[in-house]
Amino acid sequence: MKGIILAGGTGTRLYPLTLTVNKQLMPVYKSRDLLSSVGSDLMLAGIREILVISIPGSLPLFQQLFGDGSQWGLQFSYIEQPYLGGVAEAFILGCSFLHGEPAFLVLGDNIFYGDGLGGLLLQAARLQQVALIFGYQVTNPQHYGVIEFDQGGRVLGFEEKPQFPKSPYVIPGIYFYDSQVCDLAATLTPSVRGELEITDLNRCYLEQGELQVELLSQGYAWLDTGTHESLHQASSFIQTLEERQGLKIAYVEEIAYQKGYISGEQLYRLAKPLTKSDYGTYLMQLIDDNSYYPIPAKVPALGTV
Ligand code: TTP
Repeated sequence: MKGIILAGGTGTRLYPLTLTVNKQLMPVYKSRDLLSSVGSDLMLAGIREILVISIPGSLPLFQQLFGDGSQWGLQFSYIEQPYLGGVAEAFILGCSFLHGEPAFLVLGDNIFYGDGLGGLLLQAARLQQVALIFGYQVTNPQHYGVIEFDQGGRVLGFEEKPQFPKSPYVIPGIYFYDSQVCDLAATLTPSVRGELEITDLNRCYLEQGELQVELLSQGYAWLDTGTHESLHQASSFIQTLEERQGLKIAYVEEIAYQKGYISGEQLYRLAKPLTKSDYGTYLMQLIDDNSYYPIPAKVPALGTV
């Protein structure tokens, strides 16, 4: 399975913040920026080949941030989305990158947190034959893609941003699709707002009987950071977890190290320039915790005292 981060968009709800800076470069407390947080979801799912799709003006900044990914044991590619063509356009633009492999798509402005998230994503990434999306209960479903259920809890369909939602369950921005995804995306036509809708792609899978919808428990936090309030809430939420519980969220270097993608020496090289911040100090401490000392202690030469 390969990963795609869709990180374009216009970010109009975050104006004037996003007049000059892409939404996905907005900071989320200490863990750098939204894009790195999203990248960490893909890493948790065990995915190492990642395509970043964004608008032409932002792509060079993302390239500066991630490079080719080798510093974290990953492989990054980049592609432009010239116009706001819709979320499902990721599979038109990313078709040659996927090259017939299943895909894990993450929207660049969605943050996930929860005990066991890594296990959930790893398991999802092992699915090869179907599509898997999640349902999450919210109080403002009219802003999202809403899931409609029958009396028995079976999924009947989806509606994009309905005025009168048929359930409080919406689809958050993480999606797992099998190898048919590019062919199915190619059959979609633009909606009235001129976009290739991800809801239409999900509907194709549902009609084929190949869509799994898993409801996320309230133990998981899904934070959409598209507005000033939600971006601020995301930072505060992560700050609370870090300060109260000592948890570190979405530290990509840590994940790369724990997953064995990089050695202690590589982690040391990444952490060293950051040690004036808590972020770097924390990374250094990881190396100490694992008894890795990149500079060997001086041993007296034989015969000297
Ligand atoms: P949205 O929040 O729906 O759109 P936006 O980023 O343009 O924001 P606003 O409504 O404030 O103008 O997009 C959700 C995510 O998907 C976001 O990370 C941007 C990304 N996206 C694309 O990269 N390309 C697209 O064509 C669309 C529709 C979304």
